[in-house]
Amino acid sequence: MTERAEQRWESDGYQKHAGFVPMLGAPVLDLLAPKAGEHILDLGCGDGALTEKLRDAGALVRGVDASEAMIEAAKKRGLDVRVLDAHALDFDEAFDAVFSNAALHWMLDPDAVIAGVYRALKPGGRFVGEFGGHGNVAAIMVALIAALEKQGIDAKPIMPWYFPTTTAYQTRLEKHGFEVTSIQLIPRPTPLPTDMAGWLQTMAGTLFDVVEPTKRAAALNDTLRFLDGCLKDEQGQWTADYVRLRFSARRAA
Ligand code: BEZ
Repeated sequence: MTERAEQRWESDGYQKHAGFVPMLGAPVLDLLAPKAGEHILDLGCGDGALTEKLRDAGALVRGVDASEAMIEAAKKRGLDVRVLDAHALDFDEAFDAVFSNAALHWMLDPDAVIAGVYRALKPGGRFVGEFGGHGNVAAIMVALIAALEKQGIDAKPIMPWYFPTTTAYQTRLEKHGFEVTSIQLIPRPTPLPTDMAGWLQTMAGTLFDVVEPTKRAAALNDTLRFLDGCLKDEQGQWTADYVRLRFSARRAA
């Protein structure tokens, strides 16, 4: 079976092709409603764009991310951040809230993450986040599966993302002791600032890594060709078929 390749993060490329991700984080920040003086953990903080907003709101915020490149970029904003795999959180009743935007879908063992978040929260603390939900980038996934199948690769078992239904995620949160206060799926077609090739290379690069080097360009071109008729409009603007799962949960007091 083909092994999954490891995601590489490069903060300039992310900024160029996906800089809109933190800019669309306002609704989940509103749901969190950070208060001055609260201790908040930003889980999967990336380059710190939203961590900075939490700090500006007066929160005492710390950020963690698995990517060294992203943490280096976040440090340039003067934030209290460090490299840490969210599957292995080492905090104990330290935070009033754990916040996460556009990161949980990269974490393929959600039970390990949720258990660590629960431990990291003070009793009564809240876990508020947004990430890709069921049906997220469905057209893009189908195009990737078809393009890799042409190269003899079954991409389904190596998809690097977790996109649950609300029922599945709520069940997991409750299993770990959380009370879910809100959870919803929100279709959010998102125009891309550059193009689909840039998005694919930034977000789905690991899938092309498993293709023989001489066949990678063909696999990318096939993916773009399959998507051309459905996610590119007459003006040539590409739109990603995003679906967000936004939730708020509370650790028992
Ligand atoms: C997302 O934010 O929904 C997403 C990011 C990377 C790959 C796929 C989806």
